[in-house]
Amino acid sequence: MAQSLSLLSFLLLFSYYSTLTMGAYNVLNYGAEPDGQTDSAKAFLSAWADACGSGSPATMYVPAGNFFVSQAVFQGPCKSSEIKMYIDGTVVASSSYDGEAAWLMFKYVDGLSIFGGTIDGQGRAFWACKTAGRSCPSSTTSLTIAKSNNILISGLSTVNSKGFHISIFGSNGVTVQGTKITAPGNSPNTDGIHIQMSSDVTVTSSSIKTGDDCISIGEGANNVWIEKINCGPGHGISIGSLGDTPSESGVQNITVTSVVFTGTQNGLRIKTWGKPYSGFVKDVKFEHAVMQNVQNPIIVDQNYCPGDVNCPDQSSGIKISGLAYTDIQGTSATQLAVKFDCSSSNPCSGITMQDIKLTYQNQNAQSYCKNAGGSTSGFIIPPSCL
Ligand SMILES: *[C@@H]1O[C@H](CO)[C@@H](O)[C@H](O)[C@H]1NC(C)=O
Repeated sequence: MAQSLSLLSFLLLFSYYSTLTMGAYNVLNYGAEPDGQTDSAKAFLSAWADACGSGSPATMYVPAGNFFVSQAVFQGPCKSSEIKMYIDGTVVASSSYDGEAAWLMFKYVDGLSIFGGTIDGQGRAFWACKTAGRSCPSSTTSLTIAKSNNILISGLSTVNSKGFHISIFGSNGVTVQGTKITAPGNSPNTDGIHIQMSSDVTVTSSSIKTGDDCISIGEGANNVWIEKINCGPGHGISIGSLGDTPSESGVQNITVTSVVFTGTQNGLRIKTWGKPYSGFVKDVKFEHAVMQNVQNPIIVDQNYCPGDVNCPDQSSGIKISGLAYTDIQGTSATQLAVKFDCSSSNPCSGITMQDIKLTYQNQNAQSYCKNAGGSTSGFIIPPSCL
């Protein structure tokens, strides 16, 4: 029995590796060089073109080694509706910066799974430009999923992006799991995962350490499920900023559950500009969060107006309703642990809180409410101001 089992697993392993090395579209066969210097963009795109053009399930393979890819847009629509990309190696970006919006992008693709791999955005020189306050080109997102459906990203590591690590835009049915995102806590605007104009997006079992939001949710995000995330350093998990421009799409049905925030600027945040443009955020569940020394564990800020330019003293046109906070516990790094600073023209409504316990050193933490209505149950520490 044991022998036949090991024979079976040998055969399975053998067929797995032979798929990768023989049947797969291996970038080495298209001239990619694992030397970290030769630009392998053309080789990657040629391998992609063959996988994408295949009439049957197709596998693209990136073996071990460092592959410098200057820029690559992997475009569909594809003939194959089941493309797998296995990455054993590291894909490295240029360390110089040219203001391209996207480094690696998948666009108009339906049915793609990416397994493993590391992508290195080489952001240091670009961050230095921004930190020095020089005029720098716009930032580059490391991995963009645009206008695509049925996408799985599993076990990917992304390090040192110039701008966002991963951006999901105009897409439906995207799952990101087992991702490891790493950039220094002081690297500017290096959001971990940004989700916008997309629905049915799931992000689970991931570790995100970065210089901006671990996960940011922009306009037009619907049916988003975020679970089992370790966040920090970073700015927390944010919905927003919303309402900077007219006619934004609303944000609806967002669940954030089982997240540990460590030393982050925010925990669970909703942020809108103090501008009159209308929009909405509704049906948001924040559940089972652990806060470890978080500056603003629970915060709704509808008066975002950096530099007080073009918005001071205006009230936000974004209507926030149906926020449910359940089982949020841990420590605040500031005395104000709960802050609902809502719009005077569109007060927050339907906020529910259950089993909240946030403490601040040896003093009493506090909560603040402005234009916010709702109800509580269970224990609420600090006492509710709803
Ligand atoms: C809300 O989103 C989840 C996925 O995150 C989905 O399973 C559920 O059906 C959605 N609820 C509604 C009412 O659309």
